[in-house]
Amino acid sequence: MPDLNPAQPSTASAPQLILGLESSCDETGLALVELPADGQAPRLLAHALHSQIDMHQAYGGVVPELASRDHIRRVVPLARQVLTEAGKTMADVDVVAYTRGPGLAGALLVGAGVACALGVALNKPLLGVHHLEGHLLSPFLSQDPPEFPFVALLVSGGHTQLMRVDGVGRYAILGETVDDAAGEAFDKSAKLMGLPYPGGPHLSRMAEQGRAGAFDLPRPMLHSGNLDFSFAGLKTAVRTHLVRLGWLDRADLMAEPAAQAVLADLAASTQAAIVEVLLKKSLAALKETGMKRLVVAGGVGANRHLREQLDRACARRGIRVHYPELHLCTDNGAMIALAAAMRLQAGQAQLTHTPTFDVKPRWDLSTL
Ligand code: KG4
Ligand code: ZN
Repeated sequence: MPDLNPAQPSTASAPQLILGLESSCDETGLALVELPADGQAPRLLAHALHSQIDMHQAYGGVVPELASRDHIRRVVPLARQVLTEAGKTMADVDVVAYTRGPGLAGALLVGAGVACALGVALNKPLLGVHHLEGHLLSPFLSQDPPEFPFVALLVSGGHTQLMRVDGVGRYAILGETVDDAAGEAFDKSAKLMGLPYPGGPHLSRMAEQGRAGAFDLPRPMLHSGNLDFSFAGLKTAVRTHLVRLGWLDRADLMAEPAAQAVLADLAASTQAAIVEVLLKKSLAALKETGMKRLVVAGGVGANRHLREQLDRACARRGIRVHYPELHLCTDNGAMIALAAAMRLQAGQAQLTHTPTFDVKPRWDLSTL
């Protein structure tokens, strides 16, 4: 069957129903989004999520093979769940959207395989979605959706990027990390402190009891004169402090009350270093582009300290900041269905009836 590539924005006379599947890492997410026929914003009808965090925690990080197998177990029951919740059947679905990349190859293949099977069985078009485009557009499902254009700070476990966003599919990278992502900096520092996987939320909870100025930690590339980031040195500095304290690789550390207070200080200092760099680079990107709107997306966007600091600094400068709803900051199917709906609405959806399984574990957003 031929590819269907509408050149014009969606002019469908009936609402379109989009099923979204996310399986790029350790969360299986399914969602149904309705794209109204009258040009109104897409609406989230239902979404369901299974997190594999408990399963991977014993290994201190994601085990790709286990992730793929678990996606296989979860995806069909979750699809049934969202259809039931929305009062729809599979026959009502107009487009099947799935995360095509970037992510773990095996995990992506599960979502792509199920989506392609559904597409062929139901004779419905397929749409492969870029995972980061999902994160980037997820604030459009919030109570306070942004308007184009804006600067986006995309901070997840695998990516840290500042982008200029002029519309759907119009993304220019202004700066990105040259090594670890911000989420990785949280996770790796937390792991060194003996906190469970994924460390970001644990470290940020601990930080609430600590003093941010207690440890002297670097703010890498803060004065680099560009909008790039580097977080690998920060993790090394955290490691050095733990070695000095004689606390490296001490799994029992958290059980010691004396250690807890010092670790809370180290957590608060680490968080402050990451947040300061993210804040200052975001402000520099806003200044450079002359934009008055910032969108923050990705798992680290759930961080309370980051939100407080951004809100305060941006309010002083007359800049609006938009975030996804807290429960849609980390991976989910709703952002995938939404990105598909917004692409359809903008006439930029590369729909196909051909079930290709060509997932893209590495995929640069600026090449879209
Ligand atoms: O966007 P996401 O779910 O997955 C990727 O696409 O990578 O982001 C996960 C990342 C992890 O590194 C996790 O530790 C971090 O987001 N994260 C947080 C918080 N919640 C999630 N980091 C800091 N503070 C949080 N509250
Ligand atoms: Zn993600």
